[in-house]
Amino acid sequence: MVINTLLRLFPLVLVVLAVAACAPTTADQPTVAPADGSIPVPTHTPAPLTAEQRGQVVFFQWSCISCHTITGVGGRIGPDLKGIAGWVAQNHPDADVEDYLRAGVVDVLAVVNPPWRGDLMPQDYGQKLTPKEVDDLVAYLMSLE
Ligand code: HEC
Repeated sequence: MVINTLLRLFPLVLVVLAVAACAPTTADQPTVAPADGSIPVPTHTPAPLTAEQRGQVVFFQWSCISCHTITGVGGRIGPDLKGIAGWVAQNHPDADVEDYLRAGVVDVLAVVNPPWRGDLMPQDYGQKLTPKEVDDLVAYLMSLE
């Protein structure tokens, strides 16, 4: 039971850590000291997240990690997604890897591999996620080496 609770909280902890890691530090930001002695305004704007980084956030927000391991961390209900792009390229040489991964998210029955039966992964991500979130997830999955 304790393990279950921890597993359920785990994605949340990871999101918090990921957000904390991405938060801009203020320590070495260049500032302009206004001549009138008022408080200096930081001139540095944090770079926007890349598709891959946004996809990582979506991955944890939607608790994909509760069923899928990445580098040994996560749930073991679904396949390990570490190196998934390479695995697809090797095992499905005729498939377009991005299309395959997109199907893996929104239409898992189209790409299910034994011993999986397609009866465990939620089938409604296509409705719940925005097209952009799906694109970002695909970018993230492509980056998992
Ligand atoms: C309840 C557990 C569960 C959750 C939550 C879940 N998955 Fe899955 N996923 C599975 C299982 C199990 C499979 C294998 C197919 C099957 O049996 O449903 C799978 C298959 C996949 C595949 C295809 C992998 C392959 O080898 O063909 C991808 C990609 C994938 N999931 C990504 C995701 C993403 C992204 C999310 C979050 C938006 C997610 N999954 C959430 C259980 C889950």
